[in-house]
This record gives sequence, C-alpha cells and structure tokens, in this order.
Amino acid sequence: MNFFEYVNNELYCEKVPLKNIADEVGTPVFVYSRQTLERHLRVFSEPFSSVSHLVCYSMKACSNLAILKIFSRLGAGVDIVSGGELYRALSAGVEPSRIVYSGVGKRASEIDEALLAGILMFNVESEAELELLEIRARSLGIKARIALRVNPDVDPKTHPYISTGLQKNKFGIDTSRALDLYKQTLKMDWIEPIGIDCHIGSQLTELGPILEAVEKLVGILEQLRSDGIDIQYLDIGGGLGIPYDQEEPPMPSEYGAAVVERMRDLGVTLILEPGRVLVGNAGILLTQVLYLKKTKKKLFVIVDAAMNDLIRPSLYDAHHVVQKVTLRPSQSSPDKLITVDIVGPICESGDYLAKSRELGEVAFGDHLAVMSAGAYGFSMSSNYNSRPRAPEVLVDGENYYIIRERETYADLVRGERIPPHLQ
Ligand code: LLP
Repeated sequence: MNFFEYVNNELYCEKVPLKNIADEVGTPVFVYSRQTLERHLRVFSEPFSSVSHLVCYSMKACSNLAILKIFSRLGAGVDIVSGGELYRALSAGVEPSRIVYSGVGKRASEIDEALLAGILMFNVESEAELELLEIRARSLGIKARIALRVNPDVDPKTHPYISTGLQKNKFGIDTSRALDLYKQTLKMDWIEPIGIDCHIGSQLTELGPILEAVEKLVGILEQLRSDGIDIQYLDIGGGLGIPYDQEEPPMPSEYGAAVVERMRDLGVTLILEPGRVLVGNAGILLTQVLYLKKTKKKLFVIVDAAMNDLIRPSLYDAHHVVQKVTLRPSQSSPDKLITVDIVGPICESGDYLAKSRELGEVAFGDHLAVMSAGAYGFSMSSNYNSRPRAPEVLVDGENYYIIRERETYADLVRGERIPPHLQ
C-alpha cells in the first residue's frame, strides 16, 4: 500500500498535490513518500518480530541520505556494495554494527575503510577475496567478521539480468566449495566466520526458490556446527518483488512466516537485505509532456524524463504504470483512451518509459507520474546526453523537502579539464 492517491481528480502524495511539486521544483523530479517508506519497513519487519533479526536495507535501490536516515531511525541497518555506499551510510548516521558488505569486487581500499568503520560483517564472494581480507585485516590489526556468500544454484525465475543465484552467475561461492573454505578460515588469524549468506536475485514473485535457497543455507549451517564452526548469522539477502503491473508477489507476511518457520529453532540472528520492496512503490518520477508527435504508426508522447532518469524500461523492458497527474473528468470514459508510446528526449530508440499504453487524452504541459520508480530509479540515473540528473523530493504529510537538488550545467562539467596545450 502506498500514499499516492487521487483526490478530486488530482494525484496527491500524502497531503501534497503532485502538481504543486511539479510547478515549484520543476520536472523531471523523483518524489518519495515518508509515510509509505515507514509503512513498508514496518510491514516488512513485522513477520520477523518473534525471532532475532536485523533488516539491512539494500541501499543500492535508493541511496539518498534522507531515505537512509528514515530507515536507520527505525532501527534498520544497510547492505552496502561499495566504499561510496559505506560513505553514504556513515554520513546518514547508520550504526556500523548494522552494516553488511556484499559484492564480488571489493577493492583493498574499500575493505580497509569498512574494517576501520567496524562493520558487522563482510559477505565474501570468492576465495581470492577471503585471502585479501585476511591480509588487510592483519595489516590494520582489526579482525574481519565474515559470512561466505554461497551460490545455492536455484532458479529465481526472474529477469536474467537480475538473477544472481545460479551457477552461471558471477556471485557467491559454490555450495560444494563453501564447507572447505569455512574450514580454511579457521587457520586464518584475522578472519572470524560468523555467518552464512546468499542472495538469489531480485523482483522475485515466487516463494519456492527463496525457500529452496534457505533450505540449502540451513543444511550448510548444520554441517558447519557439527564441524565446530559457530555460525550466528543467517543472511538470506533481499529480492522480494513488488507489483509493478499484474504481478502478485508473496506478501511480506507470507514470506516472513515461511522463513521464520524454517529458522526459528536454529539459534541464529536472521539478516534480511530488502531493497525494492521497501522503496519501489514509495517513489514516483514526475514528468511533463513536451510534444505530441503522430506518425503513420504511432502516437508518441514526448516527455521531459528519459532513460537517463529511469533506465528500467530500456534495460529490462520493465513495466511502470504511467498516470496523469490531473484527470479531466470528461476524459474518464474509456472510449476517450488513446494508445501511446511515452518517450524521452534522448537520441536512442530504446529511450522510452512506456510502450503501447492507454492513456486519457494528454496535451502539451500536462504532468505524468511514472509510478513505482522509488527503487533503482534515481540510483541508476546518469548524465547521458548531458542531461543534469533530476532532483529528489521527500513528502512528509503536508510538507515536502528537496532532499537532492537538481544538477546544474556546471555540475555536468565539474572535474573536467582541457589540457593546457589544447587551450
Ligand atoms: N542484496 C544483494 C546482495 C543484492 O545484490 C541486492 C540487489 C539486494 C540485496 C536487494 O535486492 P531487492 O530486494 O531490491 O530485490 N537494477 C535492478 C535490480 C538489481 C538488483 C541488484 N541486487 C532493477 O532495476 O530491477
């Protein structure tokens, strides 16, 4: 459930008409709802309340400091994948003891930063990483707490670009190899194995693969315990899907109940790394119609947001509902619907936000809301075509706050230099 709703034919975010934000801040702009963010974290966490657990928000989904603050005030930690994300997390005041660090390509400098910060644990993705971690931990004199990220080889049944738990994917360590590696850590003075981790993919709409992966982790955990290795954390990653269109992903309550049932008696702390399910439907991308263009085959609605702002449709053929911000009552009858492609100004045919969509009549200057754009929206945006990145706005009740300014043309060339001999 989210707090984007029509009141008298005007789309609101909480108590703020989106039209006001579009007029005052300009478009394109990302708008997030604080109430929705908090509700999503509560609804997600609730089913785990009977067991020891830690929600580590996977901040790659949307890493604005204000969003991190909202979650960390409610007790969440974060799942990070880079030194930059560590920097953001610490800047937002996230407790280092609630940070887990995943990712296949951690650099030595990033490992050092995380050791010095005192994060909870590294989710180690290869033997080579484990060796480097031991070297860095020894040189800093700080023990590295680790989980091995195992690759459980289950098919998450999602888009191939966002599957991560199959043997052909670059992520994690083969389950058959994991036991040996855990034993190896016992000979490493600066490594302390405290957890087991996996993450099988994103936008998962079925429980089966998640439970299959949990089952494999539990099998490894039991084996490790019988070998005398004390595992305290079971990190099952993120991945729970959201309804973008007709999908019917499991409810957090179903997901939680099934996971809790399997791990209740294991005496471990469960770590969860949700990203999309917390922020996806808590954010939208607001845009304005620039032109209508009718060709022999299509009616294009050209808007001021593009694939550099929201790349999901171009990259994954992802579906985002597009709604008019202001409905004209006379247009509510279905026969007035028109079929359009909603496209951006970027010079690529792949630059679209929605294809073959039915929309009430639109005209120059109308505002449109691209829904479910809170996850992997701004965080995947770029400056392609030298387009300044959009601002981010947080709505909180009757007020809204700019939580990231619109980039300027000067921002676009910041740090660039013309060598003197070319001047
Ligand atoms: N944990 C790890 C180790 C991950 O790699 C990810 C996402 C998550 C947690 C959070 O997954 P979530 O709960 O958000 O599904 N850009 C793609 C999604 C890529 C996901 C990458 N990893 C998209 O727009 O659909």
